[in-house]
Amino acid sequence: MSEHTPDTASAREPAQESSREQATRDSYDAIAEVYTDWIANELTTKPHDRAALGAFSELVLSTGHDETLEIGCGPGRITAFLAALGVSPTGLDLSPAMLEIATGHYPNLNFALGSMTSLPFADDSFSGLVAWYSIIHVPDEDLSTAFAEAARVLRPGGLFQLAFQLGDRVDHVTDMAGVEVDLDFHRRSLAEVLTALEPHGFVPVTRLEREPDRSGQFPEATRQGYLLVRLAQ
Ligand SMILES: C[S@@+](CC[C@H](N)C(=O)[O-])C[C@H]1O[C@@H](n2cnc3c(N)ncnc32)[C@H](O)[C@@H]1O
Repeated sequence: MSEHTPDTASAREPAQESSREQATRDSYDAIAEVYTDWIANELTTKPHDRAALGAFSELVLSTGHDETLEIGCGPGRITAFLAALGVSPTGLDLSPAMLEIATGHYPNLNFALGSMTSLPFADDSFSGLVAWYSIIHVPDEDLSTAFAEAARVLRPGGLFQLAFQLGDRVDHVTDMAGVEVDLDFHRRSLAEVLTALEPHGFVPVTRLEREPDRSGQFPEATRQGYLLVRLAQ
């Protein structure tokens, strides 16, 4: 057992699951296989994504620790990329079907079931945290809880890397590739997310906005945002 398998003795008590969270979990359970097949090679086409994760991993390692948590890991492709960059990652997701795929594809990595609003880990467990296109499903009213949890499980000086589509609206989606889903996609600005992070002790390190890549296998409809913050010492 890794030190980052769920630590129920000191972790936060699981919160009552909201109906929105339940709908998100059920939706990702339904599209887990389709999503996994579709996204498999995406990172190879996104140099900025790889660069952001590379810089993040280098900064995590410079803290002298390597334990890193990906919240909302889905099929585990980013967790596996982080492992290749030299940190020791654990992936956490709401969806059991996603985690089954992740553990099947990456049997040597650690994965845990849970929500980013109620993390099953002890305080100060990690030096790095990644939320890669996962806060997009967290409603505004739960964002503060998720960021309080992020600050709780990170050591002082730890790094938190986020990526998300930029915008100022919520898209409700009911069909993905022919599969019925019930998903909200929250588009936010870098400033908005930073404003939600700052009360929890996070200070900005890097703010990057990228124009949509409209070509190729993974055309993007919106600008993309990358935010790297550090938990104050
Ligand atoms: C768009 S996918 C991104 C998955 C992965 N990070 C990637 O880039 O391939 C969003 C993932 O976030 C997960 N998720 C959504 N809300 C969550 C929450 N509150 N806690 C944990 N995971 C969540 C979903 O189950 C889904 O697997």
